[in-house]
Amino acid sequence: MMTIKNGADIQKMKAAGRVVEETLALMEKLVRPGVSTLELDRAAEDFIRSKGAYPSFLLYNGYPKSICASVNEQVVHGIPGHYRLKEGDIVGIDVGAKLDGFHGDAARTFCVGKVLPEVEALVRVTRECFFAGLQYARPGYRISDISRAVQAHAEAHGYGVVRELIGHGIGRDMHEPPDVPNFVGGGFGRGVRLIPGMTIAVEPMINLGGREVLQLQDGWTVVTKDGKPSAHYENTIAITEGDPIILTWSGGADYGPC
Ligand code: MF3
Ligand code: CO
Repeated sequence: MMTIKNGADIQKMKAAGRVVEETLALMEKLVRPGVSTLELDRAAEDFIRSKGAYPSFLLYNGYPKSICASVNEQVVHGIPGHYRLKEGDIVGIDVGAKLDGFHGDAARTFCVGKVLPEVEALVRVTRECFFAGLQYARPGYRISDISRAVQAHAEAHGYGVVRELIGHGIGRDMHEPPDVPNFVGGGFGRGVRLIPGMTIAVEPMINLGGREVLQLQDGWTVVTKDGKPSAHYENTIAITEGDPIILTWSGGADYGPC
């Protein structure tokens, strides 16, 4: 069921979102050549718990870790492990935290040292796709208006827009209706009308090459079919009467793209 949040709910989601934001800021500090994705996961889990929150992804449908860390051709849901980041990599870090009954969910793609200019551009444009969609995150528009703006910005750069994974409503559950695709069509229709109190996660997943993806045998990791890099950028937002509130970003210096 699609839930509409009241002011008190939004305040709680803002607190959960703040934990996610601070965790991502910590991740940005720790991302460097030589760090393992498992070390990032441990630091994130410790930080989230230190705030009295719970890492939303841990044990979600059996997911074994607290964050997702998706390197290069990994699109999303990379499981932290012994891989050590190296100069030239990009890594998508996805963080969820539950506090006081509500979830926050956000992702950034970080560059590890110097990366190829075309890869840096992918990371930058993926972030821009989120903000392109955000312009339509207000009453009077529908979900598909957000989707269209994300898709148009990515495709204008010749990138592939992932279709198999999509954004989502969020609140007391990490995944609630409505679906928030990053493209128009595919049976999603125009989507619901946006109304104040809706809270959604908008999360473009954009490929440097083709849009096709594969699921690895681990049951989680999603990779590009052509092996080219992919980037991810996500925030949890609240629809209001006016401008949307970004619950996982306070509007300060954004740590990204590179
Ligand atoms: N941000 C992702 C999502 O919205 C993270 C889910 S990872 C999982 O679906 F392990 F929790 F599934
Ligand atoms: Co999400």
